[in-house]
Amino acid sequence: MKVVLVRRDVKINLNEKHINDWHEQGAHVTHFFNALSVLFPAGERLFMDSVRAYKDQVQDPELKKAITTFIGQEALHSREHEEYNEMMDRSGLPALKLDKMLWNLLGGLQKTLGRKLALGGTIALEHYTAIMANAVLSDKNVLGEKSDESFRQMWQWHAYEETEHKAVAYDVWNTVMPDNVYNRFIRRFGMVLATLIFWPVIMYFHARLVFADPNTKGKHIQGYKAVGRMLLGKEGIFRKAVGEFFDYFKADFHPWEHDNSAFLKEIDAFVEKVNASMRNPNDEVKKAVRARMVKSAVAATAAA
Ligand SMILES: [Fe+2]
Ligand SMILES: [Fe+2]
Repeated sequence: MKVVLVRRDVKINLNEKHINDWHEQGAHVTHFFNALSVLFPAGERLFMDSVRAYKDQVQDPELKKAITTFIGQEALHSREHEEYNEMMDRSGLPALKLDKMLWNLLGGLQKTLGRKLALGGTIALEHYTAIMANAVLSDKNVLGEKSDESFRQMWQWHAYEETEHKAVAYDVWNTVMPDNVYNRFIRRFGMVLATLIFWPVIMYFHARLVFADPNTKGKHIQGYKAVGRMLLGKEGIFRKAVGEFFDYFKADFHPWEHDNSAFLKEIDAFVEKVNASMRNPNDEVKKAVRARMVKSAVAATAAA
């Protein structure tokens, strides 16, 4: 499968007043996605570094170009998630504290594990991301049709591009690692390691956000049930994708054997819609953003 990647400078203007309750399923589900957002700046840096570390060993010009665009896409995702995380912090959630914790954890792991296992972990986590991205794009209930439009746009845009570049890190692995028993073991071990790190971290970050939000008080049973349903219920993200997850352990696995490339045809129209919504002067989101910009301009003038 040949996919030509595109770097799109999409600017999502999140509706800050709904940072704690943007998902139609309530605060606990909102904070699950919010916790994922906290993972991205440090996580995507690991992905970029891991792929970049092998760029010189790649000869194929198309793959070289794909690596550059992959890094460009992840950098833009991080830029938007940093803004998202700062909003959480402003609303009293410890997002930046958790983000710092993750930078330390992943930085330490990168040094300890070395570049081969870092790339192994990256392709495993890109598989997780691809599974979640597919869920976001194929099931409207994951983001919720009545959820805040700006957050839906944010996650949908990220999901489209994660789908578009889901095989890049994997193709780098296949290109630079000779196919032998040891490397196959390392690739699978990378998934075991990624799983052992991802779930405790996301659960801990989620709990920290949930318990820092006073509006969740007294709603924990109902809220955690909603999160459980979304992940492991009959129509849950991981229950539906269990086969897809374990396909990773096959010797001849490739991300595009789960062919959801039909979504890629929707990206241009989607981006156009996002840009158009940003151009609408009556849009509530845009008004809020403009108000913030004026406020920070006034503060900057006062400081000068
Ligand atoms: Fe990303
Ligand atoms: Fe990615």
